[in-house]
Amino acid sequence: MKRIMSLIVLVGVLMSLLAACGSAPAASPTTAPATTAPATAEATVAATTEATVEATVEATVEATVEATVAPTEATAEPTPAAMTVVEYIMATAAGMTPEAAAALGTITIASQSPLSGDQAALGTGIRNGVELAIEQANVALAGSGVEIGFTPFDDQAQPEVGSANAKNIVSDPDILCVVGHLNSGVALASLPDYSNSSLVMISPANTNPKITESGYANAFRVVGRDDLQGPIGARFAEEIGVKTVYILHDKTDYGQGVAEFFKLEAERLGLEVLAFEGTDEKSDFSSILTPLQAANPDMIYFGGLYPQAGPLLRQARDRGIMAQFLGPDGLDSPELAKLAGDALEGTYYTTVAAPVSQFPNAAQYATDYTAKFNGSAPPFSAQAYDSAAFCQAAIVTAAVEANGKPTREQVLTAMKSLPALSGITGTYSFSEKGDPNPATYYIFATNSDPAMWDQNELTSKIESAPPTE
Ligand code: ALA
Repeated sequence: MKRIMSLIVLVGVLMSLLAACGSAPAASPTTAPATTAPATAEATVAATTEATVEATVEATVEATVEATVAPTEATAEPTPAAMTVVEYIMATAAGMTPEAAAALGTITIASQSPLSGDQAALGTGIRNGVELAIEQANVALAGSGVEIGFTPFDDQAQPEVGSANAKNIVSDPDILCVVGHLNSGVALASLPDYSNSSLVMISPANTNPKITESGYANAFRVVGRDDLQGPIGARFAEEIGVKTVYILHDKTDYGQGVAEFFKLEAERLGLEVLAFEGTDEKSDFSSILTPLQAANPDMIYFGGLYPQAGPLLRQARDRGIMAQFLGPDGLDSPELAKLAGDALEGTYYTTVAAPVSQFPNAAQYATDYTAKFNGSAPPFSAQAYDSAAFCQAAIVTAAVEANGKPTREQVLTAMKSLPALSGITGTYSFSEKGDPNPATYYIFATNSDPAMWDQNELTSKIESAPPTE
């Protein structure tokens, strides 16, 4: 426990350091309460889940040590810039013989994300990012004999739809890599099928630890994890003076999971958790807001995505509930501003994606996206572009190795052997389990103009290695 507390302090130190460096005009830290208040609400998490979460939080804390050390080392001795993933693909394809190129046949990358329903804004951005990456790579590879096709699937943000699509995907022998999903619960329902056929899945958005902690050798992601994102949110709540928090979640693997990680860290820090409640309500939150209003929390934490968070926040403010509001990366969409309007002013979110404006190397992507799709590139779309590029890098590497069309197993082996490569959202190298090392976590203050989502104010930015077991 002592070790945990001291490491948590280190995270705070890192956040303060980042603030002092100018990236983070964070709200004034406050003194933590002297005693740890017990949670007053009934825990809704089963004991076994609690034990798993506890174990992972231990691992989380380990990771935060590395997070505090890594920036110092980087400052002292900058590492040389990694090759870009596009340079790598071109250089590797140049090694392909004409016979191998002729034997490639049809090679396809699939995407899975919600293209219909209330999460289609982020899901369509993911599909579009993949489409753009493949289109641009095919232009760059013209003459090499390599041409990659694209098949997008609509998982409707529903686990059973994702799973049904996954069965169709694995039965198409031309599909050698999948970029997906938006929702962790949908990915977890689809992964058994991908895994049974050794099909590489690279997620641009999935944050639940189970994606890479369930023993799937074929699962990769380019974003961080909720066993860090949740605690980072709790630490921030404490720093802005929150003493009591009312936690809501959407009952999904993702939303409930990140809320559990937030809760555990909040309790460790001495915050009082007034409630921990799941809901799949989408429009009328009055039965949730009545007891919440009576509890009068300093903060509402919502583990879920923008289609629920927007009306929830709007209705809370309409009732005069002025508590702080914080949620995770599922809120990282300009659609939240459309749904919540001015109720969003003064609220915060943590994210693993961030607006495209955060990434200097994504400026051309942002321009190309707008030209092709007639709208701004939403969060997670640039991560989808990078995920598709890593699919391509693994496929081309495996094709050279196979001297023709590679098997899915060969693509998986190639994926595991890729060097650190820089994409448009960062330089990625993957841990043994498929997590990016390091991953970046952000805290933003929101503004209520959807057209200005790119201008949300960065409060903190934290790099961390993945938690270790
Ligand atoms: N990070 C969210 C998820 O994994 C979007 O479901």
